[in-house]
Amino acid sequence: MVSEQEIKNAVAVLRAGGLVAFPTETVYGLGADASSLEAVKKIFAAKGRPHDHPLIVHIADAVQLANWARDIPPAAGKLAKKFWPGPLTIILRRSAMATDLVTGGQDTVALRVPSHPVAQALLRAFGGGIAAPSANRFGRVSATTAAHVRSEFGAAVECVLDGGAADVGIESTIVDLSGDKPTLLRPGWITAAQLQDVLGEPLAAPDAQSPRAPGTLAKHYAPQTPLLMMEADLLLELAASLTRQGRRVAVLARSAHRPLLPGLAWVVASADAKGYAHDLYDNLRRLDEAGCDTILIEEPPQDTQWVAIKDRLMRAAAGVEEDLA
Ligand code: TXA
Ligand code: MG
Repeated sequence: MVSEQEIKNAVAVLRAGGLVAFPTETVYGLGADASSLEAVKKIFAAKGRPHDHPLIVHIADAVQLANWARDIPPAAGKLAKKFWPGPLTIILRRSAMATDLVTGGQDTVALRVPSHPVAQALLRAFGGGIAAPSANRFGRVSATTAAHVRSEFGAAVECVLDGGAADVGIESTIVDLSGDKPTLLRPGWITAAQLQDVLGEPLAAPDAQSPRAPGTLAKHYAPQTPLLMMEADLLLELAASLTRQGRRVAVLARSAHRPLLPGLAWVVASADAKGYAHDLYDNLRRLDEAGCDTILIEEPPQDTQWVAIKDRLMRAAAGVEEDLA
């Protein structure tokens, strides 16, 4: 997959203050040495990301938590023991190691121990923390393959480690443990119920006191083509009426059967949540590349394992109803 030599080269790029795109089990990350201001600045420049959007610091193991955070509550240890390495990000009060650029000027820092073997190999060989947002341009669809990363950044990111398609396919669950009560800031493959089981207390929803998580902006993870989400019946009706008007429509179907309509691009998503999440961003890219006027997504089920998928789809669709109206 990725050779030892490639890991060595990537470490050299990180030490020289450069950017390395690397696979994690959730999505690909665009990494830089978290302790170098100059290196971290390059992430913001490459992504076109506003500076008040904080980054996740990736570390090889939970032992390194103490380098980046202080006043670490027992709950962090419990979650780390159960879910790390894995698709969970924990927000804690920051130490002096975490610079304003990494934290967006907040008093907290986001930390994650990824499980992907290439991410692990890179973190172990590098030794320090790697600040890494998802490897996509700001507001756009996350990258789950090395090819996605290259199509987002081209030559601007010289080092891309190819670890195959990301297993989970959607970004990590983010839980804030910096305040009085544990708070879910971003749903992910690890569900609120799983976290509550381990914590032994309910998770709060973010309020005015919670740290800002600007990546949870209403509109995010969005293809260029306007995207709408709806039930299968309505979707088929709308697809028929739009194509009658000569518009080209791209559909992400789950249970709906393909109707015989002209100008229709039709992608069938997996019926189970795991497969759906795994393919989600690749499917959104394919729908976008079909060059249609509108993307219609068949609404996923209500069960808990679909919450994070629905969250991403709603953000991808945000603002479109108004645009079309
Ligand atoms: O799965 C993931 O989490 C991927 C992989 C690469 O690890 N990373 C990722 O990073 O999704 P990014 O930057 O696209 O999203 C990180 C989210 C953003 O919504 C950001 O606002 C939030 O984490 N965040 C980072 N630091 C924070 C902090 N100190 N307080 C609150 N939210 C924070
Ligand atoms: Mg992102």
